[in-house]
Amino acid sequence: MSTFEPLVFSGVQPTGNLHLGNYLGAIRRWVALQENNNCIYCVVDQHAITQAVSVWGGPSELLRNTREVTAAFLAAGVDPKKHIVFNQSRVRQHSELAWVFNCIARMGWLNRMTQFKDKAGKDRENASVGLYVYPNLMAADILVYRATHVPVGEDQKQHLELTRDIAQKFNTDFSDRISELGLGVETQSGHETISSFFPLTEPVIGGPAARLMSLRDGTKKMSKSDPSDLSRINLIDDADTISKKIRKAKTDSDPLPSEVDGLKDRPEADNLVGIYAALTDSDKETVLHNFGGQQFSVFKPALAELAVEKLSPIAAEMRRISADPGFVDAVLKDGGERASILAEKTMRNVRDIVGFLQD
Ligand code: AMP
Ligand code: TRP
Repeated sequence: MSTFEPLVFSGVQPTGNLHLGNYLGAIRRWVALQENNNCIYCVVDQHAITQAVSVWGGPSELLRNTREVTAAFLAAGVDPKKHIVFNQSRVRQHSELAWVFNCIARMGWLNRMTQFKDKAGKDRENASVGLYVYPNLMAADILVYRATHVPVGEDQKQHLELTRDIAQKFNTDFSDRISELGLGVETQSGHETISSFFPLTEPVIGGPAARLMSLRDGTKKMSKSDPSDLSRINLIDDADTISKKIRKAKTDSDPLPSEVDGLKDRPEADNLVGIYAALTDSDKETVLHNFGGQQFSVFKPALAELAVEKLSPIAAEMRRISADPGFVDAVLKDGGERASILAEKTMRNVRDIVGFLQD
């Protein structure tokens, strides 16, 4: 039985304030996956404009942030020669497939998306239509390459479930046509063997940093849009700023527990231990083995020193790369050209499957 070629795809929005959650939850894991996989990493500029212009900052900000996110990918160790790095809007096939998916996905599916509810807030009538169909474009980003694995933070889980629902409905709605054209990959679905055009993509989520929380409130996600800069560690923060933010991080007054169970109902302590674990490539058990029984007055300086040691070289490399925007632009152009070839191959098949006449 044939299977889908393993392929990794992921993306980050160029919306500013790239933070430790983006790095530990996503980008750093992309770097690890490069060893044994073909990978495509994308700056999703079309997703960035789904909120109000006042939120994403307008054209100059978008250009600046697109280059900055690219610099962060490269500084973190993404290899744009062996793999593909590009900005989404260059490859028109993403929006083309998104239209087909707008016609596959059901209103009821999108109505369940919690990210839409969070971002639209109370005034849902005033949210853009783009924000509503954001998950369909995300599914298109992934499936236009027939990607099999998507490394992201925990907050994207629901979007990836929707991506699978879309793939499955497309495969079923067009199953006869897919077989007739010989475009299917034989896959097992329960007892049946079905001929699928799109894979059911697997999320790659996990580890101690799958969901980093705000440093000011352990019940809120660390986020680019939190008005308090003290709530997050930005990738471009200097050593003093990182230390200050960790020193000021909210905690309770108890010493650290010796077992992971003891972190229950202590969201701030849990978060800081998780950050330490992720930065040392270990787990919370190991961190508590070393720091259990210690006060935050001991743990925080150790965490600050570690964070500075791990993040400073990345910030320095981001600054070095950003000093040469011509280089960054060339990386995106080259990646866009290579991505377009792959995306067009899928889209030619999709047009044939759906019944769109083409040459
Ligand atoms: P975004 O900034 O929304 O484009 O997110 C880019 C990537 O970072 C996605 O894979 C997110 O799941 C991940 N991410 C964002 N915030 C966090 C967080 N607080 N903890 C862990 N991962 C995160
Ligand atoms: N929605 C993702 C986020 O907010 C960004 C994204 C867009 C993405 N397209 C994607 C992530 C495709 C993974 C795969 O983080």
